[in-house]
Amino acid sequence: MKTKSIQSIKGTQDILPSEVHFWQEMERKIFEEMALFGFSEIRTPAFENTDLFSRSVGEQTDIVSKEMYTFEDRSGGNLTLKPEATASVVRAFIQHNLDKINTLTRLFYIDALFRRERPQKGRYRQFHQFGAELFGSEHPEADIEIISLASSIFKSIGIDEITLKINTIGSKSARDNYKIELKRFLKPQFNKLSEASRERFEKNPLRILDTKNSQEQEILLNAPQIFEYLSEDDKAHFSEVKMHLKGLNINFEIDPYLVRGLDYYNRTIFEFISNEIGSQNAICGGGRYDSLVSQLGGSDTPSIGFAAGMERILLATSNKERAENIDCYIVCMGNKAQDWVLKCANKLRSMKFSVCFDLLKRSLKSQMKEANRLNAKHAIIIGENEIKDNKFQVKDLDTGKQQEVAFEHIIKYFKNL
Ligand code: HAM
Repeated sequence: MKTKSIQSIKGTQDILPSEVHFWQEMERKIFEEMALFGFSEIRTPAFENTDLFSRSVGEQTDIVSKEMYTFEDRSGGNLTLKPEATASVVRAFIQHNLDKINTLTRLFYIDALFRRERPQKGRYRQFHQFGAELFGSEHPEADIEIISLASSIFKSIGIDEITLKINTIGSKSARDNYKIELKRFLKPQFNKLSEASRERFEKNPLRILDTKNSQEQEILLNAPQIFEYLSEDDKAHFSEVKMHLKGLNINFEIDPYLVRGLDYYNRTIFEFISNEIGSQNAICGGGRYDSLVSQLGGSDTPSIGFAAGMERILLATSNKERAENIDCYIVCMGNKAQDWVLKCANKLRSMKFSVCFDLLKRSLKSQMKEANRLNAKHAIIIGENEIKDNKFQVKDLDTGKQQEVAFEHIIKYFKNL
């Protein structure tokens, strides 16, 4: 009886060779754009103390209250697989006194994150983000650097059909005042709210604004808007952000109902939305978090950042698969040729040409088929006669042109390509 095979965990995905090219290409472009904006990479551990997330993302958020993979360490500590990266980057920023090295710190990451959400298209339990965090500036120009960095990366990856939505949620005290008014407005309609919104009413009423339920959206049309509760400074900050976005020709929509699912934000928040990937349409989210560093024990450091979901970017991009391709396939004919094939392959590889050859002792026809499947640019045929006469056939598989070359000239042939 065949042994039952083990499957991957629900909500996780293997990235297979046919797709990995796209990831590598996306990563290359991220590195390139991050360098153009002066951001340096940071790598943080896969798990952290659970407190880090409850104190930053927020106890009442869906992420912390329902979605974290939390476990007890054998020594009794309470640990959590990172559900997002900002808290870890802030922890590292404080722990290693990065603010003492530079007054402005620009960091980026590419990372795997874990949230126990209900899996569906674009929503996974392990997913990947790239993101950037800019520490040390309270000015609107920092908001613009972060938004235009995200926007440049999307452009270079080839994602055009996206909408940037922005909003401002002011300071904590403005939000506290607004929450009271929002609850006062919603209370008479409480019975018309969905179960999820009723649950949020006490714990996190701002998240009700984010509802996808059309009946609730209609109720909210007459709700008070947070903008009315903001200070003059908050409003001026937002005006400058809008002005610079226009100046840079970055299109945006103001969405007064935009709220983020994490508690650490203040002032500017934003999301990039794609209309082409179904209900999980947020490709990227971010915003200002001026109090988070001090809240986690560091000095007062105004900051802003974003993170983008890489699986969702993959969904929004066509032309994902790229066939394999190699520089040379060596066709081996007969046992005596094996040694020559190994030597030839190693020599070409030392010159940085990619080379494959047969390991199954297959027929000439099957080996040529394999060369085609691998999209080899050239094929070299090595057999006993070729060795005896020191005449090897080198075939350009794109043009079909074939040349007879002595062994010592094979290297020259490739050098001259
Ligand atoms: P977030 O909105 O929770 O923000 O996540 C950012 C992006 O990650 C989302 O827009 C989405 O594309 C992707 N994402 C989130 N959850 C999943 C999932 N379960 N499956 C697939 N993709 C997902 C943050 O994480 C903040 N740390 C962003 C930030 C950085 N704010 C300031 N700096």
